Amino acid sequence: MDRRLRYVQVKITGSTVLKLQPFKLERFFARYEFKAPYLLSSSDCESMSVAELLALEPGAAEAFQRHWLGYTESQGDPALRQEIASLYEGIRAEEVLVHAGAEEAIFAFMNAALTPGDHVIVHFPCYQSLTEIARSSACEVTKWETHPEDGWELDIDLLKRSIRSNTRAIVFNCPHNPTGYLMSRDTLNQIVEVAREHGLIVFSDEVYRGLEHDPADRLPAACDLYENAVSLGVLSKTYGLAGLRIGWIATRNKDVFQAAASFKDYLSICNSAPSEFLARVALRHREAIAGRNLAIIRDNLALLDSFFARYANLFDWRRPKAGSTAFSSIRHDQNVEDFCVDVVKRSGVLLLPGTCFNYGDRHFRIGYGRKNMPEAVGKLEEYLQLTIPVRDR
Ligand SMILES: Cc1ncc(COP(=O)(O)O)c(C=O)c1O
Repeated sequence: MDRRLRYVQVKITGSTVLKLQPFKLERFFARYEFKAPYLLSSSDCESMSVAELLALEPGAAEAFQRHWLGYTESQGDPALRQEIASLYEGIRAEEVLVHAGAEEAIFAFMNAALTPGDHVIVHFPCYQSLTEIARSSACEVTKWETHPEDGWELDIDLLKRSIRSNTRAIVFNCPHNPTGYLMSRDTLNQIVEVAREHGLIVFSDEVYRGLEHDPADRLPAACDLYENAVSLGVLSKTYGLAGLRIGWIATRNKDVFQAAASFKDYLSICNSAPSEFLARVALRHREAIAGRNLAIIRDNLALLDSFFARYANLFDWRRPKAGSTAFSSIRHDQNVEDFCVDVVKRSGVLLLPGTCFNYGDRHFRIGYGRKNMPEAVGKLEEYLQLTIPVRDR
């Protein structure tokens, strides 16, 4: 971690300056992601080439050649918004705001919906921007902490006890990065009940939706359940199309929608025209793409089960229920960041230390949505054979 870099300063409008702490996960990946040959911690599923995507639909390659490269509509291409709306039960195209990735959507939502002094309750551990943007905007942030010994379960009584007079929003992420936790339908209903009772906004990060390992576990989207909920989606994870940088929010709350749309004028303004075209193609074939990625995940999980059974002395393993990541921990007495750095330097296998989630010094994230995972696990095993004394394995 670059400890000299204390803040990233972003000038938003006039004299407003956000003091954002470095995004630890991104800074760690910036050092290794494009050098390490075996990525074993990526959260996005297997990707594909433009040609492979266009081949899913007769005529798409020719139409792509003719696609216009001017500015696009700021709220998103209407046909794309329509396609995204069809992912939900009760959302109209006008209630979908397309962004440059989920990251821009989080940034716009937090700035649009919150004002300094507001209190936000955030599912923890979490993707850093879910806490950091609110914190840097002088909001009070309470971490809604979850623990491995409870199966990372969200505690509704803790949520209720965390509510204050200035609480404005509840933020959660399911399927969850990094733990692979998926709450029950009953828990989701209870969160909505609490939010409704206190007039709170719900921000539901659903970027891994569709990656439930048992499809019967899929939760309704929060925006379908609750009029003041914002559901966050993206093409990066379930569909493996992170390079498109197409994400969105879906909400029936018109004020939040309008504020986020106005804020976007100071960010990307509009989306990339080629990406919007390709995103439409991808969404028309979403079941095939997600199905391919779920098949990769199922094979990889079986392999991880046997890997962790072989190394039960070294690691704790909790089989995730959903998503493309799991949060394992090391049992031996070594700082996990030192462990991950040594692994990547000596074997080329990239794991992600839990320090990047500000979560202690024992956990690390595994990503299992990529086709070459068996090879990466093989390399990790070679590393363990070479470095760990036989009695400790
Ligand atoms: C929970 C969560 N939300 C949002 C994002 C941001 O997604 P994107 O990189 O596609 O903008 C990520 C990416 O890792 C994530 O894990």
